[in-house]
Amino acid sequence: MMSLPLLLLATVAGLLALAFWWLRPILQSMAAELAATPQRTREVTPGLADPDCGIGIALMASAADGGGGSAPAKPKRKKPTGPDRRQFLRNAWLASWGGVAGAFGLSALGFIWPRLGGGFGAVINLGSVDTVLGQIADGGGRLEYPAGRLYMVAYDASKDSDGVYAELNGESPAMAIYQKCVHLGCRVPWCETSKWFECPCHGSRYNRWGEYQFGPAPRGLDRFPTEVRDGNIFVNTGQVVTGPTRTTQALGEPAAGPNCNG
Ligand code: FES
Repeated sequence: MMSLPLLLLATVAGLLALAFWWLRPILQSMAAELAATPQRTREVTPGLADPDCGIGIALMASAADGGGGSAPAKPKRKKPTGPDRRQFLRNAWLASWGGVAGAFGLSALGFIWPRLGGGFGAVINLGSVDTVLGQIADGGGRLEYPAGRLYMVAYDASKDSDGVYAELNGESPAMAIYQKCVHLGCRVPWCETSKWFECPCHGSRYNRWGEYQFGPAPRGLDRFPTEVRDGNIFVNTGQVVTGPTRTTQALGEPAAGPNCNG
């Protein structure tokens, strides 16, 4: 089945193709009109009246008449050349709408592009299980992955006796936690001393598994589904899973030291 980003990309490409197909005859007609516009050249023979000038025409007519004093011929009104003004305005209007549609298409493409490139919204391959667990240990208890707006923490299924996170993590020994605070959306940093996630905006605190500990947050941090495939850990950042309730304490781990936001 086609994924959402590819579906959006195909839709944008289809709209652009449709806009181009729709505007092509108009652009062709504009080009043809411009090409058909005659260059105005004025050739004036020295000593003779200008044939483009109404007075000149009258004088020539008078000369052809023998200068006999008859009434001068009325100069003929010239038919305007070049593109018709109404048609030109219509084409310009359509061309501007074509520009707007093109800009919209490019913006939409820019919006979904990170999802195709492994950023937030994509299924991200973080590397082998051993590599990820090693990086979590090196990070003092968490691995930060800014492009996916997530933290990885070690997940021990034996501590999750009720299986609260079992379905979310599958066979993965690491759990993915969304960095966005569930109170009002600030990015929640890691506190090195407490080994908790502590929000600097209004003081919410979450333990290493992102479970609620303190502050105005209504629940634990949201998270992403994780799975192990071919020995690598994949995180689906296109699917945000609502965090556990305030009372969920599967980890039950107190702060390792002083809090950072207190
Ligand atoms: S946004 Fe984090 S506590 Fe308010």
